[in-house]
Amino acid sequence: MENNSLPSSTRHSRVKWVWTNLKGRRAFYCLGIMGSITFNVMQLTIPFFVAKLIDTFIDNENAAYNLEHNRQLFYIYLAAMVGLTLIRTVIVYGTGMIFESVSQWFLYKIRNFLYDKVQRQDMNFYSTFRTGDLMTRMTGDLDAVRHMIAWVIKTIIESVALYTATMVYFFFMDWLLASILLVISPLIFIVILQFRKDVGPKHALLREKLSGLNTDAQENISGNRVVKAFAREKYEIEKFDKGNSEYSETNQTTALTWLKYYPAIETFANLMPIILLVVGGIFIIDGRLSTGQFAAFSGLIWAIANPMRSLGSIMNEFQRFKAASAKIMEIYYSEPKIKDDPKALDLPDRFKGRVEFKNVSFKYEDGKLPVLENISFTVEPGETLAIMGETGCGKTSLIHLIPRFYEVTGGQVLVDGHDVRQMKLHQLRKNIGLATQDVLLYSDTIDGNIAYGDEHLPKNEVVKFARYSAASDFIAKMPEGYDTIIGERGVGLSGGQKQRISLARALAIRPSILILDDTTSAVDMETEKEIQESLKHLDFPCTKIIIAQRISTTKNADKIMVLQNGHITEMGTHEELVKKRGYYWSLVSLQTGEEV
Ligand code: GTP
Ligand code: MG
Repeated sequence: MENNSLPSSTRHSRVKWVWTNLKGRRAFYCLGIMGSITFNVMQLTIPFFVAKLIDTFIDNENAAYNLEHNRQLFYIYLAAMVGLTLIRTVIVYGTGMIFESVSQWFLYKIRNFLYDKVQRQDMNFYSTFRTGDLMTRMTGDLDAVRHMIAWVIKTIIESVALYTATMVYFFFMDWLLASILLVISPLIFIVILQFRKDVGPKHALLREKLSGLNTDAQENISGNRVVKAFAREKYEIEKFDKGNSEYSETNQTTALTWLKYYPAIETFANLMPIILLVVGGIFIIDGRLSTGQFAAFSGLIWAIANPMRSLGSIMNEFQRFKAASAKIMEIYYSEPKIKDDPKALDLPDRFKGRVEFKNVSFKYEDGKLPVLENISFTVEPGETLAIMGETGCGKTSLIHLIPRFYEVTGGQVLVDGHDVRQMKLHQLRKNIGLATQDVLLYSDTIDGNIAYGDEHLPKNEVVKFARYSAASDFIAKMPEGYDTIIGERGVGLSGGQKQRISLARALAIRPSILILDDTTSAVDMETEKEIQESLKHLDFPCTKIIIAQRISTTKNADKIMVLQNGHITEMGTHEELVKKRGYYWSLVSLQTGEEV
């Protein structure tokens, strides 16, 4: 089986993957398969009894005598036919239930597994995969796999069982006639293999188009404000229309591919009854075949022809499964690069909050130039470090190394004296309260957003943290206070309001290390002063690392660090740096409007 679309690390067999994941329902699934086989073999019983009836009671020189004296046998045959039909119906119902329930169970299990996988991935994963593509994997692709389990495998087994059982029966009745009918089969396989070659890449392309379409839709819906601001609706609609029509065309070409092969298959399938009629007729005349046997042959010829006809749709569905499962398995087998070391230290739940960088250098995996070089500094528990520097100098990259969002390329990041690579990620991150530069709030109540890191946080605590972040006043004015539902990305709130809720959320986990990335940039000076004041009087010990552009935010910090082009160029207190007359001093002059 080719796995061209899979990276080498995920070259796993698809069938094996399905089988492994059926663990827990394998016996049940096999029961379904057995049921399918039984049901299909039982399809032969009716023609079998019809042949018996004809040969005993109709086309027999003693037919009248048999009917007179063997009437019991006649009833037995009839009863057997009715009874077996009933049993068959029960089996069909039962197997249908089994396939449906096992496939739904599989879908549920894998979807949860994938969601879990996606949640645990590191930042690199999220810059590699686009949201729309991930969504396609979790929905459409998974459904193609479910369809494989529920329908494709079942149909394959049914077709093979029916075909084989009929052929065996035919051979028992007349080997020569059966062999002549069998001659056509290789031709059909050649056509089907050709079809597979033709349609396989089309399914892969179709899958890509769908993912592209979903990505476009997702990005546009979440970015609708930008679209509106630039009055680009028409452009976006046209772009989507182009993608949509391409998808639709690919869908059509894929579906129509079968039409090219269909006439050949249909001709072969239709040849069967003709061969039977000619050869069977000759055999009856020769007395080699009884009329009853001929009736059984012709009553079952569909059981040979139909599996051939369904080979096309089976192959089609199988190719769809192939394209979809490759995408799912890529996520299924992906491993985050940043994960717990098996020998990770088990530290006390609450850290002291000492942060130290030792000769740290850092480069993004996909980046060419180093972003940080030779960074060394220490922040003692309870201290406040302010980081300043022009845009793009590496401030955000630096603080992202503390919760180990990225791995350093050189040197060490230590928290409480331990290299972060030796800590348990969960423990490390539970100790860090981070308010990121791009604020993302959930579609939830304000209360739910603030208590995100600690869902059992009592209401009065939520209010307290909102007060710390100077958010309580505006929240109180909202129609439903803390129960006001805010939309995705905090729609309905101003930039400064969003920042304050994100600050309250970071504080609410009572972190030992609080990291604020430009968190008060959008709030007014007065409110900012209020926040600075509260941060000084938190009711839990906390080291603070604050990225800011305003001198008013940074001047009271214990240490101020100036980053320029990934290097620390200045480090000291406000007074020390002002005296130095460097970058910091120039900022002070610029912002206060006077020479200091
Ligand atoms: P501001 O937030 O604008 O003040 O900048 P910053 O100091 O926080 O800069 P940041 O640390 O975000 O970026 C530093 C450099 O790294 C910039 O040159 C960015 O272009 C680059 N960079 C940031 N994120 C990524 C990333 O995910 N991949 C790559 N390859 N480069 C990145
Ligand atoms: Mg930044």
